[in-house]
Amino acid sequence: MGSDSGQPRGQWNSGTGFILAAAGSAVGLGNIWKFPYITGENGGGAFVGVYLLCILLVGVPVMIAEILLGRATRSSPVRAFQVQTPRSPWIGVGMIGVLAAFLLMSYYSTVAGWALHYTYLSVTNSIHGAGAEQVQGMFESLTSSPLVGVVWQVVFIVITVLLAVAGVSKGIERCGLVMMPGLFVLLVILLGKAMTMPGWGDGFDFIFGMRFDNLTAAGVLEALGHSFFTLSLGMGAMITYGSYLRRKDDLVSASLATAATDTVVALVASMVVFPIVFTFGLEPGAGPGLLFVTLPTALAQMTGGAVLSVVFFVMLVFGAVTSGIAMVEVIAAFMIDDFGMGRRKACLIGGAGVTLCGIPATVSAIWFGRVDYLVSNWLLPLGGLGIALYVAWKMDRALRRNDFGSGSALAKGYGIWLWGLKFPVPVCIGLVFLHAVGLI
Ligand code: PHE
Repeated sequence: MGSDSGQPRGQWNSGTGFILAAAGSAVGLGNIWKFPYITGENGGGAFVGVYLLCILLVGVPVMIAEILLGRATRSSPVRAFQVQTPRSPWIGVGMIGVLAAFLLMSYYSTVAGWALHYTYLSVTNSIHGAGAEQVQGMFESLTSSPLVGVVWQVVFIVITVLLAVAGVSKGIERCGLVMMPGLFVLLVILLGKAMTMPGWGDGFDFIFGMRFDNLTAAGVLEALGHSFFTLSLGMGAMITYGSYLRRKDDLVSASLATAATDTVVALVASMVVFPIVFTFGLEPGAGPGLLFVTLPTALAQMTGGAVLSVVFFVMLVFGAVTSGIAMVEVIAAFMIDDFGMGRRKACLIGGAGVTLCGIPATVSAIWFGRVDYLVSNWLLPLGGLGIALYVAWKMDRALRRNDFGSGSALAKGYGIWLWGLKFPVPVCIGLVFLHAVGLI
């Protein structure tokens, strides 16, 4: 089907290609960098349990809703709301999504740049053998000399923009088909090593042992916010990817497969990080520096650490690229659909804008923290709430039902899904907002 700009609309070549692209967008720094460190900060176990509940009860229904809205309207986030309800305030939900994608990419690229830098350090064997202070110094010099950080950030943005320019099936789908299996293989290698380490038992207990006294209300808010972040929800990435999905493909099974892959990768990544951290008696609650200071400190001392750190950071880069490309695609698809721009131009302008707004995040940790807080705890849940309410209460019923069942082996789940989307999902997100503003 053509878009308004008169260009043919991209399409995934296969159902598997779509799942790998969607899983590629979901699996990223959120799983390998953020999940382990927020689990560490929230004391492990119980937090992981709440997070799993959030994924299942809130994340999966919203993911189905997003993909469905994209496929049914064949549109990017803002236009998806215009198609059925033109000139209505619902368009604001799509706008929040595009804004979130833009802001998210602006600081995601900072961390992805660090991952590229550490890959470089690993490949040139600069980490192995270094003492704890030297490793600490490497991270400090990276974050205090903005030029190096900014150069790697720009390299990352250029890579993702070029892949998006190549198009839906030739760029994004191919990238998922290569990088996702690559990421799984690297992760399994690391897991194999972690299992042989003395800290394996402690690490495992830290992730799965239920310690409810460590769980705070703020932790619950963080778990919900993170379930949106990690599944790439609330900013229209899945609307956009869904808009390229063929009618014959099974979107319900694809959503479940995507959420399951994402969850398994987050848990396995933690099962790699914590045993290593505990083996060397390091601090699990080290915060954002967990992967860039704590882990390299351990890798520097480990036998085989030189190779393992290459494996680890290449895996992190793969995750970051397949996610970053989704953010660029949301911004580009918006400009293609709503302003009739060509793909190349839209990607280049989007990339340039993100670079300009992204540099402050690399230069200032305070700015970085604020934008992350705004996006993860407010914009993504708000976007997710808007999408859930729209699909559940406003969207044309016949269109919704048809699209849910189209190509689906799980068409019978329609009633449960819709019920979940109408009641528990908005209530859960609403409670979190009330807590965030201090009303409960
Ligand atoms: N899900 C990605 C991650 O876990 C982040 C992301 C959010 C990507 C939203 C695209 C859209 O790293």
